[in-house]
Amino acid sequence: MNFRKAYSLALALFFVITASGTLYAQTRLNEVMGKLVDSFAADARKANPNFTGFSAKDGEKLFRSTRMHSKKKELRSCTTCHTKNPAHQGRTKVGKKIAPVSPAVTPERFTNTKKVKKWFRRNCKWVLERECTPEEKGNYITYMMSL
Ligand code: HEC
Repeated sequence: MNFRKAYSLALALFFVITASGTLYAQTRLNEVMGKLVDSFAADARKANPNFTGFSAKDGEKLFRSTRMHSKKKELRSCTTCHTKNPAHQGRTKVGKKIAPVSPAVTPERFTNTKKVKKWFRRNCKWVLERECTPEEKGNYITYMMSL
């Protein structure tokens, strides 16, 4: 192999490695979030001995499911505010804009454990009239991270 060929091969390899590194970074939780999701998995295992890991499919089901609120008598869903497409901008009931929930579009998603805990508590209660289980929260994050 002559020098020029070897050089362009090395350059191509460099770009492939850099590109895959960037992709990897966007689909990976930071350290504190990784720990939070690990704790969801530990709690999910305690609650359900058959738990084998989080499911993006079940996370999507939770995101899309609708439920009749017992007192307000209205259908509520995660999609009520976050829209049916996680890549789209959402809106609160009073019209305030919500950045897309997909971390592929909004990289700050799922980087702050305090924020994640606060909004799971608030939104699960608003939609389901109860807190989401650790398994549901892990599934939801797994779904969003898979996009
Ligand atoms: C009534 C409107 C509303 C509904 C319904 C709603 N959310 Fe949200 N959600 C918000 C708002 C407002 C924020 C905070 C603003 C932001 O993050 O851009 C938020 C943020 C979040 C966050 C924080 C994500 C992060 O790390 O940035 C999570 C997690 C979340 N919502 C989960 C859910 C789930 C799960 C459901 C369905 C059970 C749901 N939301 C339904 C309004 C809503």
